[in-house]
Amino acid sequence: MQALLTIAVRAARKAGDFVIRESEHIKSIESKSQNDFVTNVDQAAEQLIMETISNAYPEHSFLCEESGESGDSDYQWVIDPIDGTTNYIRKIPHWAISIACKHKGRTQIAVVYDPNRGEMFTAVKGRGAQFDNKKMRVSQTKGLEHALIGTGFPFRNEKRLPEYLEIFSKMFPLCSDMRRAGSAALDLAYVAAGRLDGFWEFGLSPWDTAAGALLVEESGGMVADMRGNPNHEKGNSILAANPKAFKAMLKVINQKP
Ligand code: IPD
Ligand code: CA
Ligand code: CA
Repeated sequence: MQALLTIAVRAARKAGDFVIRESEHIKSIESKSQNDFVTNVDQAAEQLIMETISNAYPEHSFLCEESGESGDSDYQWVIDPIDGTTNYIRKIPHWAISIACKHKGRTQIAVVYDPNRGEMFTAVKGRGAQFDNKKMRVSQTKGLEHALIGTGFPFRNEKRLPEYLEIFSKMFPLCSDMRRAGSAALDLAYVAAGRLDGFWEFGLSPWDTAAGALLVEESGGMVADMRGNPNHEKGNSILAANPKAFKAMLKVINQKP
């Protein structure tokens, strides 16, 4: 497993350097669907990550945000080359490279790398998580009263806005404050590092959450969908938090008016 992690870290650093270098000359910005942007840099960074991994593991397969699924192997790398593309396009320095490696559908390795701050968050299934080579743990905040909670708006699916706002208006008065920073992978890494006490968002894809979810679990946190089902990738929504905040958030989210 350590060898897989070494390759993932190498790929993330290479892509991070490249994406930072290219930020002053983005050549194309396309809209894949409503509010869903891709630049030539996202695509090239994804290719760079895939090449780095394929050089070490030519038989492994991929699930990537920009190029989709390729290959057929028990090992599948799940990649988001820039998580937070809207921030990247607008020169807001808050985005990350997210790389996970699954074996038979279970995430074994996670890397979320923030090249703007040089922060590297990693995890190996069953072996814990690290932030800049130090053991990472979720916060100890109990319940919601003093909790700082991250979230993402349903900006690509306005139909979910009423449902989202209902949860927001129940949660907001109970917690200390909320953040919407624009990179789900970094939101999850921040939960793992104890910077945020919890995070929730609707409408995410596997490449947004695969690495971040393992970071949270291996830091002692809990991850599920909004109903508390651990198989969150099926339903596209995610709730992640330290165990006490998780319980409190799940209760609020599922409280009937
Ligand atoms: C997006 C970011 C954002 C979240 C979206 C994601 P992208 O990823 O993580 O914070 O709210 O749901 O799709 O498109 O920038 O890779
Ligand atoms: Ca993403
Ligand atoms: Ca992306």
